[in-house]
Amino acid sequence: MISRFIVTIIACFVALPALAAGDATVGRSKSQVCAGCHGVDGNAAIPNYPKLAGQHAGYLVKQMQAFKAGKRKDAIMEGQVANLKDQDMLDLAAYFASQKTTLGAATDKAQREFGERLYRGGNETKAIAACMGCHSPNGSGNKPANFPALSGQNAAYTLKSLKDYRDAKIRAFDDKDDAAKIMRNIAKKMSDAEMEAVAYYIAGLN
Ligand code: HEC
Ligand code: HEC
Repeated sequence: MISRFIVTIIACFVALPALAAGDATVGRSKSQVCAGCHGVDGNAAIPNYPKLAGQHAGYLVKQMQAFKAGKRKDAIMEGQVANLKDQDMLDLAAYFASQKTTLGAATDKAQREFGERLYRGGNETKAIAACMGCHSPNGSGNKPANFPALSGQNAAYTLKSLKDYRDAKIRAFDDKDDAAKIMRNIAKKMSDAEMEAVAYYIAGLN
């Protein structure tokens, strides 16, 4: 049932027109202003800030557009994207997508295993689908469907993202955004303990 649901969603996304091309080399020169927060190679050192390295270009462009249109709220990022043109976003996304993610540590065994169970198996009692169904077993996401890569992401940022989807004021409050609604419906069913454990596990997932 769940897998058929996922296949349907993926099919819808694949039908979207292909993204125009970004130029990673041009993107690198445009990315200097981003480096202070996201790292030169997109591996943000500040735990609250997302790593962009290795993220799918289509997902990155979508998020930049969402900040610009006020559909995703963040005081910092809304300012950062205000003057970006479509081509700038494509170039920046191509650059960060071409970089390699560094992995974080997930050394606490109990916490890691709790997170892993949820990531791989979901929570049947609460009807939470397994994360790997959409984000893939190694956290590389699903590129054609714009499902983001999660592998190596900073745990504090992942936790914040999940809460932002659940609260539906910062992310996923726009009912027209089907992709974000998928995550809202999942995050709504998660406890804080589940969010913390899965975020912890994802930081070391590859
Ligand atoms: C002053 C710090 C700062 C700068 C400079 C900055 N960002 Fe960000 N960026 C953030 C923060 C903080 C977030 C997380 C926002 C949230 O919590 O929703 C973010 C989120 C993002 C996201 C969403 C990532 C995801 O996984 O959903 C993208 C894409 C992004 N930034 C791209 C850029 C680009 C491109 C630049 C340069 C043009 C840039 N940022 C400059 C702080 C910054
Ligand atoms: C049915 C498919 C599906 C399942 C299952 C799923 N996700 Fe997602 N997830 C998505 C999509 C689509 C997005 C992008 C939404 C958007 O564009 O805002 C996303 C986005 C995210 C993000 C934001 C990434 C970023 O860079 O900000 C996180 C974190 C996340 N998911 C974690 C999880 C976790 C943890 C689970 C399991 C408990 C899970 N997801 C299960 C489809 C799914």
